[in-house]
Amino acid sequence: MKKSTLIIGAAALTAAGCYLYSRTRKQPDHRRKTVLITGASSGLGTEFARIFAQHGFDIVLTARNQDKLDALAYELEQGSGIQTWVIPADLSDAYGAEQLYDAVKEKGLVIDQLVNNAGAGLHGTTTDTDPAAMDRLLELNVGSVTRLCRLFGQDMVKRGSGRILNVSSIGAFGPDPQFNVYGPSKAFELRLSETMYGELFGTGVSVSALCPGPTKTQWARRAGKADSHFAADPYDVALAGFEGMQKGQLVIVPSGTLKAGMVFFRCLPVKLRAVLSSVWQKSLIHKQTKLEKSH
Ligand SMILES: NC(=O)c1ccc[n+]([C@@H]2O[C@H](COP(=O)([O-])OP(=O)(O)OC[C@H]3O[C@@H](n4cnc5c(N)ncnc54)[C@H](OP(=O)(O)O)[C@@H]3O)[C@@H](O)[C@H]2O)c1
Repeated sequence: MKKSTLIIGAAALTAAGCYLYSRTRKQPDHRRKTVLITGASSGLGTEFARIFAQHGFDIVLTARNQDKLDALAYELEQGSGIQTWVIPADLSDAYGAEQLYDAVKEKGLVIDQLVNNAGAGLHGTTTDTDPAAMDRLLELNVGSVTRLCRLFGQDMVKRGSGRILNVSSIGAFGPDPQFNVYGPSKAFELRLSETMYGELFGTGVSVSALCPGPTKTQWARRAGKADSHFAADPYDVALAGFEGMQKGQLVIVPSGTLKAGMVFFRCLPVKLRAVLSSVWQKSLIHKQTKLEKSH
């Protein structure tokens, strides 16, 4: 066979290959990405919203306090060119997650990224705390988080892309006494993220868990304890979560000091950790009770 025939044949094959590749290749998605942030009305959720807005995401904001969400939506849209939607929801309600999902669908929105941040704590021992209050907490921190992961995760898998971040806690790594089911619920969020990471590996959807330590938000006071001296800035924690989830990191511990402290603490026997944590948490609850009485 002549050399020129070979060259023409190779060129024709290359052109055909390029044509087929361009036909089968996914078209680039030029649509602006949309994130859904739960618990956006305060603390970490508000900081997440500001960070996503800075990165050009459209944002669906949800929590129960509509006035705070409306004010945040207004702030975020000023001069940023992004769009926001406010969908109030009570995620401690058994139907809250489904109703939120349906409301997002009714608006025709596609959720590219999900931040399961809404969460609450409740001081009191497991034996003495109001069982109905513990059930609501489990619905918020466990039931709704699982349902939102499933509903939005399914859509992401169908599209072949997406990111989910579950805001767990450093408390997920060990006993968290005096806060009944809070610590166990955060351990569930961490385990769920690890499980889904494995299940969705290779689908284009990543699942991450952010494990903050004490952070200066409303959380501690709402749960009935004083802020600890080394509470972190919520912006720094949210930024670590944002960056980690964009990299597809599975477990995100937001600071080196926290990581080192956790490694040291986990060297201690679990019984000792349970007792030491109990003493420390009791002192913070006591401090908060005193603060409230003095006001
Ligand atoms: N701050 C800390 O020290 C710390 C440490 C580790 C982990 N975390 C976790 O970080 C996440 C964010 O908490 P944060 O520190 O930012 O506390 P935060 O300031 O109290 O914010 C909690 C958010 O969750 C929302 N929320 C509470 N109950 C809800 C419900 N029933 N339905 C829907 N939304 C609800 C609140 O909004 P509405 O009241 O308007 O509904 C608020 O936007 C939580 O999952 C928390 O467990 C916090």
